[in-house]
Amino acid sequence: MASVLTQVYPITWQGDLVLLIDQTRLPKEYTRIEVRRYEDMARAIRTMVVRGAPAIGIAAAYGMYLGAREIPALDRPEFLNQLEVVAAELRNTRPTAVNLFWAIDRMLQVAQSTVGSVEQVQQALLETAKTIQAEDIQTCQAIGQHGLQALPQTPEKLNILTHCNTGSLATGGYGTALGVVRSAWQAKRLNRVYADETRPRLQGAKLTTWECVQDQIPVTLIADSMAAHCMKQGLIHGVIVGADRITANGDTANKIGTYSLALVAKAHQIPFFVAAPLSTVDFKLESGEQIPIEERDPIELYQIGNTRLCPEGVEFYNPAFDVTPAALITAIITESGAIPPQELKQFSP
Ligand code: MRU
Repeated sequence: MASVLTQVYPITWQGDLVLLIDQTRLPKEYTRIEVRRYEDMARAIRTMVVRGAPAIGIAAAYGMYLGAREIPALDRPEFLNQLEVVAAELRNTRPTAVNLFWAIDRMLQVAQSTVGSVEQVQQALLETAKTIQAEDIQTCQAIGQHGLQALPQTPEKLNILTHCNTGSLATGGYGTALGVVRSAWQAKRLNRVYADETRPRLQGAKLTTWECVQDQIPVTLIADSMAAHCMKQGLIHGVIVGADRITANGDTANKIGTYSLALVAKAHQIPFFVAAPLSTVDFKLESGEQIPIEERDPIELYQIGNTRLCPEGVEFYNPAFDVTPAALITAIITESGAIPPQELKQFSP
């Protein structure tokens, strides 16, 4: 009998507010916070209560609606002006994941094109936010199925290495790279997941392992620095990661550490897959050098809990993402199939 996957929804519309699973508290505590105002949604994105490219996009879409309903029922042009202010604050939260900007632009487009009163526009925005979330779940399920075709077709079950968290929590509720892993588990093609801990924020240790435990998927946690050793020992059959922004040539920004993982996978002739919806592809950008890379507070590096890890007088550099060149990527698994990076341009809308 196929194993049943757990349903975890990081973002839920409930009555007149948004519930967010507080990802900063997992795995110690499973709590949800109530978000009623767009400023609070912007803060939740900035502080990573909600994180992961598709989830950020969905959260921003609901943020746009929350902002829209706070705008007093003015005439239409003034309403649209004030909605741009809401959009600007939400855009200003995190710079790298393009899904954020994609979702905000889609919401603005709906606001501009909906005929009728301000109340009707507000209603259309709520419906669109719900649609963006529902579409993401379907898209990720399709990515999962295409991933099954792309994975090495071997008689033995696979060990897959992944980086950061790309599961239900990072999306509408299914997952991109971890969605492929979940599909492989259901199809009985998976032996085990190796999860990089993903310094400095530890999304792998805290979130990926939590999600695997919910689904009863066997998972082994390793420090990021152990990946090459595991590959050399023959423990890894394939690597799958998510993406925050992919450029037209296939270069891929993802969580810091992804690039080194791709290099060591290449050195060991292990396939390296990126799994992401086509909404993560920024066709306006030609190559990865143009992707803005977020730098976060150095406290993420020098402190764990209340413990400072290094002496005073040290300088820090804390980029949250890196860019993996297309040449290191076997295929980009999307809802339209597994695409070799050099063919990505054909999927430009
Ligand atoms: O800083 P985060 O936790 O938002 O970074 C998340 C990642 O890098 C994920 O790998 C990426 O967003 C893909 S999520 C399906």
